[in-house]
Amino acid sequence: MELKSKIAFCEGKNFWETKEFPQYGIPSMFMCDGPHGLRKQEGVNKDYLGVNDSRPATCFPAAVSTACSWDVELVGKIGSAIAEEAADQGVGIFLGPGVNIKRNPLCGRNFEYFSEDPYLAGKLAASFIKNAQKNGIGTSLKHFACNNQEFKRLSSDSILDERTLREIYLTPFEIAVREGKPKTVMCAYNKINGVYCSDNKELLTNILRGEWGFEGLVVTDWGAMHDRIASFKAGCDLNMPGGSNYMEQKVLDAVARGELDEADIDRSVQRVKKMVLEAQQVLKNKTCCDYDAHHELARIVAEQSAVLLKNVDNILPLKKEQKIAFVGDMAKDMRYQGAGSSHINPTRLVHPADVLGSSVSVEQADVAVVFAGLPSEYESEGFDRENMKMPQEQVKLIEETAAKNPNTVVVLFCGAPVETPWADKVKGILYMGLPGQAGGEAVRNLLYGVANPSGKLAETWPIQYSDCPSATYYPQWDAQYREGIYVGYRYYDKADVRVRWKFGFGLSYTDFAYSNPQLDGEMVRVTVTNTGNCPGAEVVQLYVAPPQDGIHRPVRELKRFTKVHLEPGESKEVSFSLDERCFSVWDNGWKVPSGSYTILAGGNPDKLIVAGAVEKSGEVVKIPDWQPGSWYENPKGSPSLEQWETMLGRKYVPYTSQKGKFTMNDTVTDMKRHSLVMRIMYLVVKRIISKGTKPDTAEYRMLLETSAGSPLRSLQISSGIKEKFFKGILAMANGEFIQGIRILLKK
Ligand code: BGC
Repeated sequence: MELKSKIAFCEGKNFWETKEFPQYGIPSMFMCDGPHGLRKQEGVNKDYLGVNDSRPATCFPAAVSTACSWDVELVGKIGSAIAEEAADQGVGIFLGPGVNIKRNPLCGRNFEYFSEDPYLAGKLAASFIKNAQKNGIGTSLKHFACNNQEFKRLSSDSILDERTLREIYLTPFEIAVREGKPKTVMCAYNKINGVYCSDNKELLTNILRGEWGFEGLVVTDWGAMHDRIASFKAGCDLNMPGGSNYMEQKVLDAVARGELDEADIDRSVQRVKKMVLEAQQVLKNKTCCDYDAHHELARIVAEQSAVLLKNVDNILPLKKEQKIAFVGDMAKDMRYQGAGSSHINPTRLVHPADVLGSSVSVEQADVAVVFAGLPSEYESEGFDRENMKMPQEQVKLIEETAAKNPNTVVVLFCGAPVETPWADKVKGILYMGLPGQAGGEAVRNLLYGVANPSGKLAETWPIQYSDCPSATYYPQWDAQYREGIYVGYRYYDKADVRVRWKFGFGLSYTDFAYSNPQLDGEMVRVTVTNTGNCPGAEVVQLYVAPPQDGIHRPVRELKRFTKVHLEPGESKEVSFSLDERCFSVWDNGWKVPSGSYTILAGGNPDKLIVAGAVEKSGEVVKIPDWQPGSWYENPKGSPSLEQWETMLGRKYVPYTSQKGKFTMNDTVTDMKRHSLVMRIMYLVVKRIISKGTKPDTAEYRMLLETSAGSPLRSLQISSGIKEKFFKGILAMANGEFIQGIRILLKK
């Protein structure tokens, strides 16, 4: 291949496909979203926000739900079912799973991610990937890395210290890469400590490939390419979507000048070629794909992922002979998936009302079941929630129902925690998350005890938003990771803040007892018994409580878990083996500080039993000079900017965009404040969007935030419009009107 073709090969052909080169026997390959089911767009209109039509595919429960199953095997089955559908629809790579950490409950995209805990997220993703790829279809682990807010998601700078980066934000990727071996990893839009992920050699080569042994290809998130020269050097292989020839001439010039080694491009070419040819082999053979069986799997997953949060007087399961009132619009129209690139056109859709039978009036009912949650316009890719509240009318409906009927149960549909000031007024709460296309059948089976809830929360539910450590500074233009490693339960435990429901919490229709804990070297054993009257499954969680007298550490951290199914009266011994990483901190490498580590096990965070203590005469990890008396030693509330800067070891310099100095990294939204041209551009974008979507919908807001909020270079890549257009309006926005016109008119 000549150099120009090589560069071209490392950019897609169009929105979803790679370029074919028939003269070299290279076909094109189709990619599509996503993590919870396929979104294959075959029509003329393509988008990366799930707005235009896609082929029907099974809509599985979203990661917010599947994570609550804590069941690696089950999550693996979703991976392999999606891969079967991918093979059936001619897709070589599908874009998921997403393992970004749920740093703050308001992130609009939390529903697509697994957990606030890196170990849980990593293990589930690894199993998803391994099973999805077992017949050769590839996955794309995303969004690498530190893309934890939707505000400015296409350009923000994630600023954090190395320990937090390693222990919290990179760990899920590390586990998923080492164990799952994804064929591709998707680099995120944002910068990390000033360097765009696409250009980040430390991230994409030194850590991902060097340390973790990744052998696959790095693809950009759609429109995330920053500097094609730097990105070739960094090990970012494929620029998507294609069609813009982004920076092609500049790359040619850089090679000619000797600034970029052609070998860097060759390496990426080889990776793209390998991926495409492997997919061609796999897709050659027609395999069977049973969409009915996948619907059944979606139901089972929804059942196994539901979390029973409250069950006073065993109000659930409902009895056949009881008269039930089914209340709330979500009975007929449940929220079952999130908005954005993961949006699926389901093969079927079963709402609770379709299968629950008739409802009696509110007054005659033995039990009232209210279906409530977050409407789709509240949470979506593209923007963050403004608060943690449910719509006022839904709260009112729950409270009014509970006032009329003391036996009220709430079935909740939402992709992230909400404030539940009504929780004490109802007897039962069943959390369904976003349960996918078979959610209605799953709800029926759970309510009537055909299925027994066995999910545990994969994230903490605070009482109110202001309890979150990052509440006062999330989200910002630059993402300031001030709370460091104290994310989710790591913070609430250490700060001793009462929460509504803890990470790892979930009830069952049966009871489990723990006995005979043993610690033998680094082997932990514990016996679990089903002491109730019906079969059930229990998630056994193992936490390590590290010493608190050295370098600051969380009170306890999840290090192992498993799910066991038990008949009434049945007991099983569960065993876990620990390794060095269970005790480690990041301090210029993984190190085990010496001291006594308590091992805790159990099915509910409040009832853990002690299995013993492991004594480590490991290394001396120095207490940082700034630690004594700091927020990190004794966290309460939000850390201040100064406290964070002291921990970070440097001053934080906020980004400012300035007229005269605008670049292709600036967005229409930001520049419009200073530029008439950009105000006009904004109105044009708004007009185009409002032609196809209604204002006040999640879709409208997502489209507006994503297009007007895209750096100009991302708009160039995604739209395929010529560079000179963007350079022209950029010059105008910078006050160089004539120069802008000249650029626009240039042939
Ligand atoms: C999202 C990715 C998605 C891609 C393609 C991007 O906007 O961040 O998660 O895979 O679009 O749809």
